[in-house]
Amino acid sequence: MQRYTKPLVLLLLCLWISLVFGIPFCPFPGAAFPKPVNLAESPTIQAALSKLTTAFETYDQTSSNNPNGTSWSLQIFSASSDDPLWEHYHTANDLLDDNESGNVTVGPDTIYRLGSLTKIFTMLTFLAEAGDSYLNDPVTKYVPELEALAAKAPSDPIMSVDWSSVTLGNLASHMAGISRDFALEGELTQEKNQSVLISQGFPAAPLDQVPFCGEVIPCTRAQLFAGLSIVPPSFASSHTPGYSNLGYQLLAYALEAIKGRSFSEMLESDILQKLGLNHTYYHPAPPRRLGVIPPGNDAGWDFSLGEANPTGNMYSSISDISSLGRAIFRNLVLTAVQTRRWLKPAATTADIYEGLSYPWGYRRIPLGPPGSGLANRIVDSYNKAGSINKYASLLVLLPDYDVGFDALLAGGWPGNANWNMADTIGPILLPALEAAAREQADEIFAGTYSAEGGLNSSLTLSTDPEKPGIGVDRWISNGTDMISVAIAYTLNYNVTGPSIRLFPTGLESGGTGVNAKKMAFKAMIENTDSADNSDKMFSTNCGTWVSQTAVVYADYPLDQFVFTIGGDGKAESVMPLALRTPLSR
Ligand SMILES: *[C@@H]1O[C@H](CO)[C@@H](O)[C@H](O)[C@H]1NC(C)=O
Ligand SMILES: *[C@@H]1O[C@H](CO)[C@@H](O)[C@H](O)[C@H]1NC(C)=O
Ligand SMILES: *[C@@H]1O[C@H](CO)[C@@H](O)[C@H](O)[C@H]1NC(C)=O
Ligand SMILES: *[C@@H]1O[C@H](CO)[C@@H](O)[C@H](O)[C@H]1NC(C)=O
Ligand SMILES: *[C@@H]1O[C@H](CO)[C@@H](O)[C@H](O)[C@H]1NC(C)=O
Ligand SMILES: *[C@@H]1O[C@H](CO)[C@@H](O)[C@H](O)[C@H]1NC(C)=O
Ligand SMILES: *[C@@H]1O[C@H](CO)[C@@H](O)[C@H](O)[C@H]1NC(C)=O
Ligand SMILES: *[C@@H]1O[C@H](CO)[C@@H](O)[C@H](O)[C@H]1NC(C)=O
Repeated sequence: MQRYTKPLVLLLLCLWISLVFGIPFCPFPGAAFPKPVNLAESPTIQAALSKLTTAFETYDQTSSNNPNGTSWSLQIFSASSDDPLWEHYHTANDLLDDNESGNVTVGPDTIYRLGSLTKIFTMLTFLAEAGDSYLNDPVTKYVPELEALAAKAPSDPIMSVDWSSVTLGNLASHMAGISRDFALEGELTQEKNQSVLISQGFPAAPLDQVPFCGEVIPCTRAQLFAGLSIVPPSFASSHTPGYSNLGYQLLAYALEAIKGRSFSEMLESDILQKLGLNHTYYHPAPPRRLGVIPPGNDAGWDFSLGEANPTGNMYSSISDISSLGRAIFRNLVLTAVQTRRWLKPAATTADIYEGLSYPWGYRRIPLGPPGSGLANRIVDSYNKAGSINKYASLLVLLPDYDVGFDALLAGGWPGNANWNMADTIGPILLPALEAAAREQADEIFAGTYSAEGGLNSSLTLSTDPEKPGIGVDRWISNGTDMISVAIAYTLNYNVTGPSIRLFPTGLESGGTGVNAKKMAFKAMIENTDSADNSDKMFSTNCGTWVSQTAVVYADYPLDQFVFTIGGDGKAESVMPLALRTPLSR
């Protein structure tokens, strides 16, 4: 036997080397484990939350955050609980001096202005009422004034927007190529006086082109479209992202035409009333006593964006924004599949980690450093920020965990304060969520599953903090090692770093009455020891998603595993579909 020892040691050494120097694992994009629940009871989460509390004790005292001049409300929420997972409130000292306007002590129900976070409510209303099948329709189909303007466009596409090429999806995802605003912000003729502007090098403004509505007196619908006949496009439609508040005003007009109802009525009934968001307002402003109003900002509280309200006029509390986030995850307004389509990319930006959805921004966050086992485990976060005069807001959704967090600020917040908060929360929260999800998956799925009736078939599963998904450690079918069979059939060559790990498919059934809950997982069958392509221009290390269901036995995939979950929430058995024999845990 002695002579077998050396090759075995060499083989083990080889495997060890491949794990250390091999290329990182490639998960199927999306959650690496089922969504974690009961997070408040997880010691891993509790430790992270206490770190977070400590981090914000410092944040609240850091003068660059202007804590004496700014109030904020923060929460972390999970779809699996109605209570916030974590909450934090800070009331500015300076606001304590002013108790005429509003309740100066901020809390879960304190109302702030949202600014552009409003657009999430607008889009959710659109999807609830019209659905996403309208998104490829041109806006001219629903907004007659734009149909009239479109007739002008072919003569000069540089000076006239080709509205017939602008779809509702373009408006929703900032891909319309249109102006950011019409006279709402940035129109110098409304913000500065003529003699100052002329001294700065501007010519006298042509009177027939100066908007006489906008910042002080909001434009009527007719004034808007009259003005839009003068405004040139920014880009061709579907060319590149260009943020547009105007787009959301037009989207609301289109929705009103599609449904024949007023936007505010749809928003009220489909979202605010349906979800019981009793501290959320569209127009007019809520009573001042319900809000946090920085000293001297009463007018900033009351004013309305008028016809542009769908782009940024809303008010809400942190509790209600968290409820909105939970409702998105719980599919209370949209169906699950509509939600999945909504929380997917629509466009890229110049930042390789960042892009756009409808109108979410998404951020791609690797959970491990380059070269580590989690380097390719990317969490896609869907985010929307807003700001309007003294207020700023942020909602972040992490669909991989059905967890999100939100921030509302009032006062003299420094630029980027809402994102600074996200940068404080994220690095503590995300690794803890992944760890909690892994720990729960380990409890539910890890262990050895064996065939009954004497057949030598079994499957051994475990998890590893350094690797994504559930690892297949051993897989025997009727006395044969199926790992090497699956590797040989899938990868078709002799691999030195074989890896089979299971990932959630989003396919689940049962779980009610007599029907046991079932969950399907897909195996990522890969070679972590193949040539490293990270420095190549076109080749990728993660082309692995292409090889899903590469091997099929009588119509059933070799890489599909279906678990049956017992009444205690733990896996009772698993069926490797192609092998057709249930294995009990
Ligand atoms: C806030 O105001 C208090 C009382 O005036 C002062 O002691 C404290 O240093 C201020 N904090 C910061 C961060 O500026
Ligand atoms: C704040 O309200 C209290 C109670 O209504 C009142 O006594 C106090 O004078 C007010 N303070 C200021 C600064 O307005
Ligand atoms: C002010 O808000 C705090 C925190 O939400 C709340 O506890 C308190 O009851 C409110 N006070 C008034 C007078 O509404
Ligand atoms: C415009 O600004 C100049 C320079 O500040 C000032 O003298 C003038 O009164 C202003 N004109 C108007 C109409 O406000
Ligand atoms: C919102 O108000 C309605 C009507 O007053 C009430 O029935 C409902 O319970 C409230 N919802 C919440 C979440 O407070
Ligand atoms: C197991 O393998 C043996 C020998 O190859 C074969 O005769 C038998 O039919 C197999 N059993 C099942 C259940 O496939
Ligand atoms: C089952 O098969 C595996 C793989 O061939 C083998 O190592 C093991 O000894 C077998 N077990 C039994 C009980 O025959
Ligand atoms: C795999 O390795 C074995 C043993 O070295 C060799 O006989 C076989 O040809 C190889 N197969 C392929 C597809 O390279």
